[in-house]
Amino acid sequence: MRQKILYVNACFREGSRTADLVQLMKERLFGEGEVTEVSLGDLELKPMDRQMLKVYNESVASHVFEDPMFLYARQFREADRVVIAAPFWNYDLPAVLHTYLELVCTQGITFDINEKGVYGSLCRAES
Ligand SMILES: Cc1cc2nc3c(=O)[nH]c(=O)nc-3n(C[C@H](O)[C@H](O)[C@H](O)COP(=O)(O)O)c2cc1C
Repeated sequence: MRQKILYVNACFREGSRTADLVQLMKERLFGEGEVTEVSLGDLELKPMDRQMLKVYNESVASHVFEDPMFLYARQFREADRVVIAAPFWNYDLPAVLHTYLELVCTQGITFDINEKGVYGSLCRAES
């Protein structure tokens, strides 16, 4: 079966050199896999605000993840391989990638904490 590859694309500047590197390395990064691209320059992701955080915390507590904000965490969990391409902006990640990763890190979808307080991954991809 073909590997499911999640390509998180944060290099959306016109003429991006990071995007060029991805193209140069595409055989190695994607191989024969089935690629799903998350194009962060086009999604209009909203940073977690008061209302979103309320929904997030209630969903984590009830283990019912119906809000569309959980799509990204689900996609991330199901991937056999995750490729993240991002430029260096202001000594950090582009803010939209940070926002995306905040949504990906959802307890009960991509990770959980056992009774001893130890964190564990629920994702398919190996680190
Ligand atoms: C908003 C913004 C912030 C940046 N901040 C930094 C920085 O803090 N340090 C640095 O060395 N380069 C910085 N750069 C330069 C980029 O890292 C560099 O242009 C890189 O090639 C961008 O990747 P790209 O070609 O894939 O767009 C910044 C560029 C942009 C547009």
